[in-house]
Amino acid sequence: MEILRHAVVLVHLTGFAILFGSWVVEAVGRRRVTPLMTWGMLIAAVAGLALAAPWGISYELNYAKIGVKLVILLIIGALLGIGTGRQRKTGSVAPALFWLIGILTFVNAALAVLWR
Ligand code: HEM
Repeated sequence: MEILRHAVVLVHLTGFAILFGSWVVEAVGRRRVTPLMTWGMLIAAVAGLALAAPWGISYELNYAKIGVKLVILLIIGALLGIGTGRQRKTGSVAPALFWLIGILTFVNAALAVLWR
C-alpha cells in the first residue's frame, strides 16, 4: 500500500511539474496559457484527491492544509478556464491572470512542503 501511495505522490508531482514547467516556459516567452498547463493541473488534481484519503500511511493527514490546497487548485482551474476562453476570443490573456496562475501554483507547492 505504501509503495502505491508513493507512486501516486510521484504522479501528483509530475502534474505539478507539467503545470509549473509549462507556465515558466510561457513566463519567459509569450505569456499565454497553454493546454499543457490545464493537463498538468488535472493530473495534480486527480492524484491530489486520491492522496487526500488516509490510505498507506501511519500518520494523521493535515486536512486544513489539504482544504486550502484544494481551494487554491480550484482557483487555478478557474483562471486557466477564463484565460483559455479570453485568449481564444482576443488572442491574449490579462497579465494579472497569467501571473496569478504561476504564483498560486508555487504557493500550493510551498504549502505542501512547508506546512507540516
Ligand atoms: C497546483 C496544485 C498542487 C501542487 C503544486 C501540489 C504540490 C504538492 C507537492 C510538491 C507535494 C509533495 C510534498 C511532500 O511530499 O513533502 C504534495 C503532496 C500532497 N498533496 Fe498536493 N499539490 C497540489 C494540489 C493538491 C490537491 C488539490 C490536493 C488534495 C485535494 C493535494 C493533496 C496532497 C496530499 C494529500 C499530499 C501528501 C502526500 C503524502 O505525503 O502522502 N494536492 N503536493
